[in-house]
Amino acid sequence: MSKSLFRTKNIDSILAEGSDNVHGGGLKRVLTVKDLTFFGIAAILGAGSFSSLGGAIFNGGPGVIVLFIITGIACAFTAFCYSDFASRIPVAGSAYTYAYASFGELFAWIIGWALIMEYSIGNIYVSYSWSDYFTSLMDKLNMHIPAYLSTSYMEAKHAIEGGTTNKDLLAAWNQSPVIAGLRFIIDLPALIINILITYLVYRGVKESKNFSNLMVVLKLSVVFLIIFVGGYLVLHNDLTHNWFPEVSPGVHSFMPKGFSGVMAAVAGVFFAYIGFDAVSVLAEESNNPQRDLPRGMIYSLVICTVIYILLTLVLTGAVNYTHFQNIGDPLAFIFEKQNLNVGWMQLLVAVCAVVAMTSVLLVFQMGQPRIWMSMSRDGLLPSVFQKIHHKFKTPSFSTIVTGLVVGVPIIFTDKTFVLDFTSIATLFAFVLVCGGVLFLPRKAKEKGKFHLPFIGSRYILPIIVLAAIVILHLISNNYFINLFDFNVDNATLTYNVSAIIFWTFCIVLSLGAAIKNWSLIPLMGLITCLYLLTGMTAMNWAWFGSWLLLGLVVYFLYGYKKSKLAN
Ligand code: ALA
Repeated sequence: MSKSLFRTKNIDSILAEGSDNVHGGGLKRVLTVKDLTFFGIAAILGAGSFSSLGGAIFNGGPGVIVLFIITGIACAFTAFCYSDFASRIPVAGSAYTYAYASFGELFAWIIGWALIMEYSIGNIYVSYSWSDYFTSLMDKLNMHIPAYLSTSYMEAKHAIEGGTTNKDLLAAWNQSPVIAGLRFIIDLPALIINILITYLVYRGVKESKNFSNLMVVLKLSVVFLIIFVGGYLVLHNDLTHNWFPEVSPGVHSFMPKGFSGVMAAVAGVFFAYIGFDAVSVLAEESNNPQRDLPRGMIYSLVICTVIYILLTLVLTGAVNYTHFQNIGDPLAFIFEKQNLNVGWMQLLVAVCAVVAMTSVLLVFQMGQPRIWMSMSRDGLLPSVFQKIHHKFKTPSFSTIVTGLVVGVPIIFTDKTFVLDFTSIATLFAFVLVCGGVLFLPRKAKEKGKFHLPFIGSRYILPIIVLAAIVILHLISNNYFINLFDFNVDNATLTYNVSAIIFWTFCIVLSLGAAIKNWSLIPLMGLITCLYLLTGMTAMNWAWFGSWLLLGLVVYFLYGYKKSKLAN
């Protein structure tokens, strides 16, 4: 039994299945490197920057830039690992397919299961954010949608229970009709955009591609305008002192709540980066996947990292970080009357946010069916999931199921919950991808294909880990000490559980590196993603653990027996 749980798929057979028509390989190959980069940006730049950035800044202050840099580095290492896999296995399925070739079936299933969080549950958060901006855009155009028709039930309920003073949430609760003893509160715009996106994806990748490219051009233009206008006003109005807010009389700090405040923003910041990996699920629709997929991923990641750093500088310069509490539209907020006071920018940002989030929804809604299609090819899901529409050449059944998986929970859940859930599951998947690359045999360099440079880790990793431990002990100030959660009040050094687990991993990996001389890039990807996971709360882990457990039950009841590799 234990052997069959780790049965791996042969890379040649994965490639053969991807290119024949029997297994659903009949997708149209229409995407170029430019399209893939645009898909990357379409997926990355969305609710993370337009919505969750406000909460992240409130938690971490201007210092959240450091977290953007750390997360950008973690994602870059991971993108190299995805690229290595994508150049070896250029078929749809993303991390799921990669895990099947390296770790074996059980891990592949777990990753496929975790990716439902990234692709489908993540889209619930984006739909809610889309609805927030859409509703406020309609307001600006004097078309008012009642609050109880543009708020999720759970958000209103939690807010009321918490004694909210937010007038929209109060209005949603108090003005909602009561049907059979239940308050009728629903986020209608979020539901409707989900239905429209599902229809568009069902119709086909070419139409979606053109639509997506257009939206990316629009949102990039507006984001650069925000950076330019906002940046100019920050300098012109001499607001740069906001980058070092006062923490106590006469004391200024770039990280006003310490590094632990910065790390509290990890779910929101990481969410902003999710998406570069979505490029890899388009392998079967890309002209030259080995060459273009890695480029598309890395180009889009670099562009978005630069944008995030500049945006955070502009936002934290324009307004004191403490004003971002409960601000769901931070990019429009900085241009409000009491802040930079640029009326036309508010309207433009609202339009752009709606566009940006539409393109994010589109990319993820295209990605999920393609992962399920791969899982179905392997027998882990029923064969109907690999059904290709005869005319549109899209995975029709999987697309409709994705629409339902995103749409139905929109009625029952809320933003914070889905944000945390999505980030932890995606980081988990990244950890497995980086780990998987370590177990792949080294491959010879081939012209025109991506090649992950090999840098031996035998000496470098133990030195890095040792240096980090020494430095962390030496620098016992608030900025860096969160790894060891220094409790200033009673002057005792308390180790939090995740920090202990993280450093144990680092030491074990250093020993492994010293013996095996593993490749440094995937190792650093593994370590940096594990580090980001230390920012997750125990509650996040509990929910994620339950989700994984459910996945295992499904696997043993269905996939384990039906798997193609079982015979
Ligand atoms: N990174 C994507 C966004 O921010 C998921 O919307």
